[in-house]
Amino acid sequence: MTTPTIELKPSSHPLSATERERILAGPGFGRYFTDHMVTIKWTEGRGWHDGELVPYGPLSLDPATNVLHYAQEIFEGLKAYRQPDGSVATFRPDANARRFQASARRLAMPELPVETFIEACDVLVQQDKDWVPAHGGEESLYLRPFMIATEVGLGVKPANEYLFVVIASPAGAYFAGGVKPVSIWLSENRVRAVPGGMGDAKTGGNYAASLLAQAEAAVHGCDQVAYLDAVEHKWVEELGGMNLYFVYGDKIVTPTLTGSLLAGVTRDSLLSVARDLGHEAEEARVSIDQWRTDTENGTLTEVFACGTAAVITPVGTVKSAGGEWTQSNGEPGKVTLKLREALLDIQRGVAEDRHGWMHPLG
Ligand code: COI
Repeated sequence: MTTPTIELKPSSHPLSATERERILAGPGFGRYFTDHMVTIKWTEGRGWHDGELVPYGPLSLDPATNVLHYAQEIFEGLKAYRQPDGSVATFRPDANARRFQASARRLAMPELPVETFIEACDVLVQQDKDWVPAHGGEESLYLRPFMIATEVGLGVKPANEYLFVVIASPAGAYFAGGVKPVSIWLSENRVRAVPGGMGDAKTGGNYAASLLAQAEAAVHGCDQVAYLDAVEHKWVEELGGMNLYFVYGDKIVTPTLTGSLLAGVTRDSLLSVARDLGHEAEEARVSIDQWRTDTENGTLTEVFACGTAAVITPVGTVKSAGGEWTQSNGEPGKVTLKLREALLDIQRGVAEDRHGWMHPLG
């Protein structure tokens, strides 16, 4: 299958510099979008074709479009950072491209070649590079590649047509409070994913499934929901849209990828960053009883959530039907903050990129 080239059809009316700067002064998360998007089509028998960069705007879909009924959809999230010399680099786009392929396989969708995924992101960031926030702060340009089934018809089957799209959104802190610890509601009666299900694919259905539990978390005054495994209701899996890490003094532990949780790129990067800083870092199953007991006996010193959008966010209070407890006296832990700075320093281009994670743009 040949790689399609992406034809440039830029907007004749991009947002004014003044308006853009006003947005970049306080972008929040996922509220504003840049001037352009990239789209590439896939048709059975023809493969990937008609790649183009076009003005950002609505997609026109027939009401019987497959994705609207049966949710054949996958997405990714990655970020572009302004470097000290003013250039722009994305973080591990190859890792996102490979996970996108894995998600596509799980949802019986065509796999986009890794180089096409990266090219599509590069073309969009290059065109909209003025939207990448200034160097040095917490802000970045969040890229959201996604793919939908576009065949029209109500038959339940893998579609014969798909649309791949990349959009971009300037991003500040995912949680309004910044690095303030988030509170967690432990969902004991709802599960996010089952063994053999889609938990390890990045597909909208997993996030739809999390919304009710997330709403229940809000009713209990919590920012996020944490899930246990679907079989024993015992093993900690992940939050609504983020992985978890447990800090035992100098050692960090993240739940093993059992197939029902997402293989986060930030999660994976932190295993290496922590080892580079001299920490032990391991993947292991962590039970909910262990979480609580080890917090109470003082061996579990910090807990944090991680993801592309949330970067690293400390966990404060954990509430469940059976009671509540608090990590690190409700303060951000020192290992959490150290790892957060170390990762951000690589992404912002002020620390050595010893794993070759940064992908500079042209
Ligand atoms: C990300 O961290 O990129 C995510 O996809 C989480 C959420 C915003 C859906």
